[in-house]
Amino acid sequence: MVVIITGASAGIGHALAVELSAAGATLALAARRTDRLEALNRELGGSHLCITADVSRQEDCEQIIARTIERFGRIDTLVCNAGYGILCPVAQTSPRQMREIFQTNVFGTADCIRAAVPHMLRQEIRDGFRGQVMLVSSAVARRAIPFFGVYSATKAAQLSMAEAMRIELAPEKIAVTSVHPGSTQTEFGDVSASRSNGLRPQRISMEIQQSAQTVARKMLHAIGRPRPEVWPIASYRWLTGLGGLFPKAVDRVMLKRREQIGGTAGAGDGRRVDSEAGDRRRDLTSRRIH
Ligand SMILES: NC(=O)c1ccc[n+]([C@@H]2O[C@H](COP(=O)([O-])OP(=O)(O)OC[C@H]3O[C@@H](n4cnc5c(N)ncnc54)[C@H](OP(=O)(O)O)[C@@H]3O)[C@@H](O)[C@H]2O)c1
Repeated sequence: MVVIITGASAGIGHALAVELSAAGATLALAARRTDRLEALNRELGGSHLCITADVSRQEDCEQIIARTIERFGRIDTLVCNAGYGILCPVAQTSPRQMREIFQTNVFGTADCIRAAVPHMLRQEIRDGFRGQVMLVSSAVARRAIPFFGVYSATKAAQLSMAEAMRIELAPEKIAVTSVHPGSTQTEFGDVSASRSNGLRPQRISMEIQQSAQTVARKMLHAIGRPRPEVWPIASYRWLTGLGGLFPKAVDRVMLKRREQIGGTAGAGDGRRVDSEAGDRRRDLTSRRIH
């Protein structure tokens, strides 16, 4: 099996490469940090393809696909994993930050898929599938969390594309799988905090944290046996679904979380959060529309 992994230099992508290589897959590993990719390839025996690429550039995405086809002749699974977060209130995210994150997380995903699908369509069916597109979205795709609103929007966009493509490509025997990790121990938190416009996140005591290896193993299963969605923390699937049915109740939980995530710089203290919640309740009953 030939698998492309974008964002293979760290975190979930790196862990998935280790798992897939151990299972016997042939890999194309893409990211911007070439030294990391080459170190990983050496660790895995040296037979994989390393591609230096910035997925925010359309031509780099096309190169990832073209070089994989040139070297291995087919793509069984494309894993669109490269991405990052910004910890910042929506209204304070600059136009440039907003365009950049969509360029990487959304357009980078779409550009890789657009280049890969025509090749998959020409491939013969193997074990029931011509190919598979796997998008690493997030649990926040179904319910955004405070201070990660813009990031959540990019993950929701990936989910929407996955849901539509799953039906569009089903007759062609191309599987589409979206992956929805919760908090995972990777470089993601540090990268998000470095783009925080001054907010300092505190540790969120209630939060479940998974290892990148745990997430990668669930993804490995869904590559071996394609399914629509992978939720490494199963309870998040139901909790985020409830958010759609009971937005007000989930808002209340989020108001508590707002303080934990925002920390001390800029997000205010607990008293302010509580009084704002009270103000909002009063506002709801007292607003006049005439
Ligand atoms: N960790 C979490 O809690 C969590 C939760 C839900 C979803 N996710 C999603 O999981 C995916 C992987 O994140 P992670 O947690 O493994 O974070 P990570 O440890 O920071 O790894 C991110 C990977 O993406 C690559 N990348 C970032 N921007 C890129 C670009 N413009 N071009 C090419 N590669 C790029 C990085 O490589 P280079 O810097 O070398 O380019 C790195 O390999 C992301 O899409 C993220 O949204 C993470």
